[in-house]
Amino acid sequence: MEEIKVIKTQNPKEKPREEELAFGNIFTDHMFVMDYNPEKGWHDARIIPYGSSEYEPSLMVFHYGQAIFEGMKAYKNTKGEAVIFRPRDGFLRLNRSAERLCIPKIDVDFAISALKELVDIERDWIPKSKGTALYIRPFVISTDSSLGVRESNTYRFFIILSPVGAYYAEGFKPVKIYVTEKHSRAAKGGTGAAKTPGNYAASLYAGKVAKEKGYTQVLWLDACKHKYVEEVGTMNIFFKIDGKLVTPTLETGTILPGITRDSVIKMAKRLGYEVEERLISIDEVFKSYDEGKLEEVFGTGTAAVISPVGTLAWRDREILINDGKMGETSKELYENITAIQYGTKEDPFGWIEKV
Ligand code: COI
Repeated sequence: MEEIKVIKTQNPKEKPREEELAFGNIFTDHMFVMDYNPEKGWHDARIIPYGSSEYEPSLMVFHYGQAIFEGMKAYKNTKGEAVIFRPRDGFLRLNRSAERLCIPKIDVDFAISALKELVDIERDWIPKSKGTALYIRPFVISTDSSLGVRESNTYRFFIILSPVGAYYAEGFKPVKIYVTEKHSRAAKGGTGAAKTPGNYAASLYAGKVAKEKGYTQVLWLDACKHKYVEEVGTMNIFFKIDGKLVTPTLETGTILPGITRDSVIKMAKRLGYEVEERLISIDEVFKSYDEGKLEEVFGTGTAAVISPVGTLAWRDREILINDGKMGETSKELYENITAIQYGTKEDPFGWIEKV
């Protein structure tokens, strides 16, 4: 692959104060961009000042949503080095989403080196305090100008960066989750396992209803019977039942194969927990609560990290989990995974990529 052209900004922005960071509303000075057409493949790789571009209103992505994205994080470790958490896994998942959305794949090694070059240029934007990170958002949009429903011939790939704090307004306090039986996120054979904007657009209405009822996010059940637990708005979900961790299986093809989900499974096993990836019904969750066996519930995601669930509401019931406090296991997993990210513990899994 060709070299990456770099054009630096003439107007660097002021960096935000770390203690004021929320999620995803501040962007760094530069972004990575490259284009695709059938003749040249992916080409014209460049790092340029972050900013707006003009697009024709007929751009295909605006009409039919042929697009994919990823979420990763870079950290400043205790030695002051810039590191990225599991970028290869992120780009491999981007390529799986690309296949589902008929988007040409990217070269993973090239994408990692482009990302490292971008993060290197922006290393002063990586916040240092615990709970903060530089969020990395790679994404691809379809760029043909056409209203026909078909795959686009041309695409643009971007990587933008955003210094972030906690994803939820609650910070790392337990969130309140509403189980919806009225709406569905993804059906079997659909795009549930791909990271594509349509899944998130389709989730907004149920999320709005949940917010109006006083909850932070929705817990989705399977689209067919509304019986089995799938995932929460922007996170995968784990239950600690009678000492064991249980999380919905990826085999249905309807839930996002989360990289933090995978990190939690691997870390939990290393810490000696039994982990089951299987179908888990919402009845089983509430029954285990009634039997005093539901010890913890937490969500996992790149943006959300590990977020304890304090309240779960389903039909006419609302249960308070672990007295609405973060549980021991959630805390242990959070501490162990973030210790690898911030470099206070060694990384036995090969998850950290130095910039
Ligand atoms: C992430 O956790 O990185 C996500 O993509 C979730 C959300 C912010 C869309």
